[in-house]
Amino acid sequence: MSEMSGPVLIVIGTRPDTIKLIPLYQTLLQLNINTLLCSTGQHAELTHDLIALFQIRPDFDFHIMKPGQDLFDSTTAVLKRAKKLFQKIKPSLVIVQGDTTTAMSAAMAAFYLKIPVAHVEAGLRTNNISRPFPEEMNRRFITLVASFHFAPTQMAAQQLFDEGVDPDRVFCTGNTVVDALYQIIKLIDERKLLVSAHIQNLFASLKNKKIVLLTAHRRESFSEGLQHIFCAMKTALKNDPHLHIIFPKHPNPAIQRALTKTRLDHIENMHVIEPLPYQDLVYTLMNVDGIATDSGGIQEEGISLQIPVVILREETDRPEGVENGLAILAGTNEEMIVSALSCIQKRKNRRSGYGESPYGDGTACEQIACIIKTRCL
Ligand code: UD1
Repeated sequence: MSEMSGPVLIVIGTRPDTIKLIPLYQTLLQLNINTLLCSTGQHAELTHDLIALFQIRPDFDFHIMKPGQDLFDSTTAVLKRAKKLFQKIKPSLVIVQGDTTTAMSAAMAAFYLKIPVAHVEAGLRTNNISRPFPEEMNRRFITLVASFHFAPTQMAAQQLFDEGVDPDRVFCTGNTVVDALYQIIKLIDERKLLVSAHIQNLFASLKNKKIVLLTAHRRESFSEGLQHIFCAMKTALKNDPHLHIIFPKHPNPAIQRALTKTRLDHIENMHVIEPLPYQDLVYTLMNVDGIATDSGGIQEEGISLQIPVVILREETDRPEGVENGLAILAGTNEEMIVSALSCIQKRKNRRSGYGESPYGDGTACEQIACIIKTRCL
């Protein structure tokens, strides 16, 4: 990098972009690239454990989160603060990840100030602008303004080519989530990272049971979808007395409202718990027999660990898991979900550890950092 150019600035703010960009931040620093980290603070509760886990401290924190914030609040708050920060530190490159409000607003601020944007996890699409909402719009917008596109898979890269993105600016590297996942599993296995006693105790008490991890937080499911998902869980638990479902509840109040309405949290063998710190989530993934989720990151993590996944969305932007037969696209249809859950068998060998992942081989950060050093600065 020339002495006159500004730093590389990585912008994080939610759980997925923090998990997926911190390993890249560490790799860029190892390559002696002048890199600064900015957290928008879009999520307060959901990210503080990650900051502690990876032992990093953001150089800047916008602290934007307000209880009950809506998309207008978070978008305008990030945009205004990013304008000020970018004008002050004049980054040579702004790196954003995925499809969150944090990523879209930071990319917009960089675009307005004519600062190049690098997009990590580029090219994911459902091709339905309303699903996921507003994430499909966010990532399409970022594709329009980005100068460098790091696609996690060949399918994602092809999507960008089909949209006319300059192939010289598209790099297929794998998804950095696999790097983060393998890093944390290694630390847990070597006992260098402690998993909370309460989560270990929960699994100890469920020995020989069939255990499914449930996560659900998508906006497009809030009206009816979430209730269908919860009713399907009730039916599945009734049908199979050996089944236990663990549900770390997203803090969005809409989730609690749906739980209260369906009374799912009153059902035996249903374990509604607080959101899990990342090492506890990874430990959970290592010990469950199946996953039911509408999260993109957990689909990737589960499939990377060879765990069957029931996708609680009408379309998926990560078709690789469905294509390799580990994931079933059940949507929010009650019958489909119950039938997909009944296909999950108890895994004979728990803690199967690393698997072949269609989402990457754990070297995405290294690849992206080298490309940034040689091509983007
Ligand atoms: C956001 C991302 C989504 C990602 C998810 C991971 C957008 C548009 N979507 O969705 O892609 O999968 O993060 O969590 O950015 N809340 C809290 N405490 C927290 C986090 C959220 O109270 O720690 C509340 C917020 O105040 C808000 C609601 O949950 O009322 C929704 O949060 P928001 O950041 O708007 O989007 P998510 O649905 O979490």
